[in-house]
Formats: sequence, structure tokens, C-alpha cells
Amino acid sequence: MNRVCEILGIKYPVIQAPMAWITSSDLVAAVSNAGGLGVLGTSADFTEIVKGVEETVEEMCRTIRRTKELTDKPFGINVFPKAADPYGFSEATIRLAKEEGIKVLVVAGNVSADEIKAWKNDGFTVIMREPNPTVRGAIEAETAGADIIVATGCDEGGCMPSLTSGTTAVTALLSEYVNIPVLVAGGIVNEKMALAAKVVGAEGVFVGTRFILSKECRAADATKADIMATHPDDYIVFTQMDGNARWRTTPHKHGFAGLEANKHGNLNPPSGSFFYGMLKGDPDAGVNTVANVTSLIKSIDSCEDIVNELARPFEED
Ligand SMILES: Cc1cc2nc3c(=O)[nH]c(=O)nc-3n(C[C@H](O)[C@H](O)[C@H](O)COP(=O)(O)O)c2cc1C
Repeated sequence: MNRVCEILGIKYPVIQAPMAWITSSDLVAAVSNAGGLGVLGTSADFTEIVKGVEETVEEMCRTIRRTKELTDKPFGINVFPKAADPYGFSEATIRLAKEEGIKVLVVAGNVSADEIKAWKNDGFTVIMREPNPTVRGAIEAETAGADIIVATGCDEGGCMPSLTSGTTAVTALLSEYVNIPVLVAGGIVNEKMALAAKVVGAEGVFVGTRFILSKECRAADATKADIMATHPDDYIVFTQMDGNARWRTTPHKHGFAGLEANKHGNLNPPSGSFFYGMLKGDPDAGVNTVANVTSLIKSIDSCEDIVNELARPFEED
């Protein structure tokens, strides 16, 4: 049996990646019901910007309970290490996840061994995604008890690794050095890309962008249409204050004034720019970020169809 499926208790090794603002109970349940693993991102189901930790936990609790009403299959939740959580949003979310019986933490960031050990002691399955993936980091996470490693290449949507390894290279490297399963992330938008990743060592896929263009994703229709209409040459990479870079639509409609208009471009999930650019569909006010191969996606499909397609290369495992 495929090891990712075995560890997570799912049918297909297709993990829907957490994406701030645009995941929802509907999306997550649809992916989990299709046999993959849905993952709640920050602000999943939230309709307004929430400022405090307490309010965030209350909203997230409602989201988790709605998801449980929609699926009896496993699903995960996105959390961050202490070092990247100055206000305690993530710490509170982890406590909530434990209370609500969520078994899978999808961790983005550089985590200490002690944190991983504590999560394992609490009974969580830990999927570790180092935003700038390194062989040393993957080995350390494995040694501390992580269950699955995500290899993220700079082809991905969202905050890209500032290291320049492409998806194929980073997947081949990490899967060579760790014994636990490696998921590939970055530009896995169709069966061919999933197959290519499998050939170099991936045991499953970790997919954001393809699920944005799903029927169940709550990203604005205007955002989906904008992504579908953007020519592959019309994406740019830009460097943020923290040194990371992000794929973003070129201001192909608005010229550089579009970039200037990005008044909400900070990374704080509760007030993040994805709220405007992706959920509200206002490309002038926020970020619209996707993988570099998005133009390979030809239609907006159901999560079930997407899971089935991306799972095909792994069927014989
Ligand atoms: C719009 C968008 C928002 C994202 N937000 C988050 C986030 O809040 N937390 C996180 O860990 N990763 C986030 N990511 C990264 C994804 O979890 C995942 O690594 C990435 O989407 C995989 O690459 P792909 O989009 O090419 O499939 C985001 C990605 C996108 C496209």
C-alpha cells in the first residue's frame, strides 16, 4: 500500500495544500470525501478579517465543526512554528485541533525538534513543509519524529522558496536523504506533473493551485477567471521584504499601477492580501498568486475529478 495513504488513513495520496483565506469546509470535505486529504488553511470559511486570537479560535472552531458535518473522513489543519507565531494564533489553533480531534497538522516553517516531539506526544500526525526546503532540515524533522516531508519547489504558488531549486530537483534530493515519505509541492496541476514527481521519488502530491481552479474552491469567480485568462509569460516573481519571492499575476490589466495599488500586501494571515486578491476577487487591492504552470489547467473541475486525475500515477503503489 502507498505509505502516505497508510499513514494518513486515506485512499489516494493527494493532499490539498492549505491556502490562506480560500480554503473552506466545502473544499476540504470535498477533497477528503474524494479519497484525498483536505487541509483547512488559516481563515478557512471566515468572511471578514478577524483580529484577535480568541475570535480566530471561535471562528475556526465553527469551521472545523462544519467540516466534520460534511465528511467523516480525515482532514488536516495548517499550523506554524512558535518562532513564526508571535501573537499565539497557531498555538491556540493547535490546542483547538487537539480538542476537536483533528489528527493531522500540516506545518509550514522551520520547526524545532522539541515542537515536533510535543505534537507527536499529543497524538498528531505531522506533515512538515520547510518553506525553503533543505536536506538537513528534512533529516532533522525525520529524526524528531515527523511522519511526512513536503518537498516544495520554486514552481509553487503562494510564498515561494527563496532557494532556487525547482520542484523536480528538490523532490529527488529530499527523497534520496530521508526514509519517511516525501510529497511533492509546486506546479502539480495535472497527471503528467504528478507522474514526473513520482518518477523522481514523490510518494504523493501536495497541491494548492490546481484546487483553486476547482468548483468547490471559494476563491472569487473573478479571480478564477483572471487566472484562467492569464498568459503563461505574464507572471512575475518579486521579492518581498523578508526575502521570499511570490508568483503573482502581472498587472496585465493595470500596468505597474496595479502593483502600486497593492496596499494590503502583508503576510499576516488574518489581514493578508489574499483576502482581497483571491477571496474578494479584487486584483487591484491584493495578491493573486499561483503556480508557474497554471496555464496547463484547462477547466474548472470538481475536487473529485482532480483527486482522481492526480492519483492515477500512484495507483499501482
Ligand atoms: C493562494 C495561496 C495561498 C497559500 N497560503 C498558504 C498558507 O497560508 N500556508 C501555507 O502553509 N502555505 C500556503 N500556500 C502554499 C501551499 O500550501 C502549497 O505549498 C502550494 O500551493 C503548492 O504549490 P502549487 O500551488 O503549485 O500547487 C499558499 C499557496 C497559494 C497558491
